[in-house]
Amino acid sequence: MQIFGVDIGGSGIKGAPVDLDKGDLAQERHKVLTPHPATPDSVADGVKQVVDHFGWTGPVGVTFPGVVTDGAAIRTAANVDDSWIDTDARALLGERLGGLPVTVVNDADAAGVAEMHFGAGRDRRGTVILLTFGTGIGSAVFSDGVLVPNTELGHLELDGHDAEKRASSKAREDHDMTWEHWAAHRVRQYLAHVEMLFSPELFIIGGGVSRKSHKFLPHIEGIKAEIVPAQLQNNAGIVGAAMRAAGH
Ligand code: BGC
Repeated sequence: MQIFGVDIGGSGIKGAPVDLDKGDLAQERHKVLTPHPATPDSVADGVKQVVDHFGWTGPVGVTFPGVVTDGAAIRTAANVDDSWIDTDARALLGERLGGLPVTVVNDADAAGVAEMHFGAGRDRRGTVILLTFGTGIGSAVFSDGVLVPNTELGHLELDGHDAEKRASSKAREDHDMTWEHWAAHRVRQYLAHVEMLFSPELFIIGGGVSRKSHKFLPHIEGIKAEIVPAQLQNNAGIVGAAMRAAGH
């Protein structure tokens, strides 16, 4: 079965039909740049361009980089325009897509669902935490394979700062940190804090950085949990969005 998945990110809106049996994209994905300001109206247009590129007419799953309740309502918008807050994203996108059924899910939760089913978290029990390092830090917490949605661990406080402002991939770029410095200090300190709170068995590191894990994973020391890169890499959000739309 195929369902369409769209991933709304800080820099791009990417999507493709997803083969849900394989957990992979059924066609090469299409990307448009995220508009700035990333208002509901302008982002909805971007989502429409991506979906229309494939002439898709079935159900669509969409990730959003903020808290999403009931597959529809946006509650926070740390890295997109504030006017998203309290928007019914399912209604907005459904209407923009000419009445297609739409499910909306937090981006990290979507990536986590995909990784637990098809990737690095497959068959893993106990507490597993996927963290995406990108513009922000996203989190997906699983207990025996069951997701606790909207955990927002990127906004834990670290040294009096919002953790994602210290340890995201954007923070590394903004402050010209080497991979080694970022990993050995910022990411290590952040993981130690999350580990102190949750004692997970496994951390899965997702987001764009998962493709470059050799540059930073060897520099993260002193964490008891196993740490592995995400396997679906940058497609995890698209696959997970489609899985949620299919009722996973
Ligand atoms: C948001 C999360 C999101 C993460 C990654 C954070 O700023 O609050 O909801 O999952 O960024 O995009």
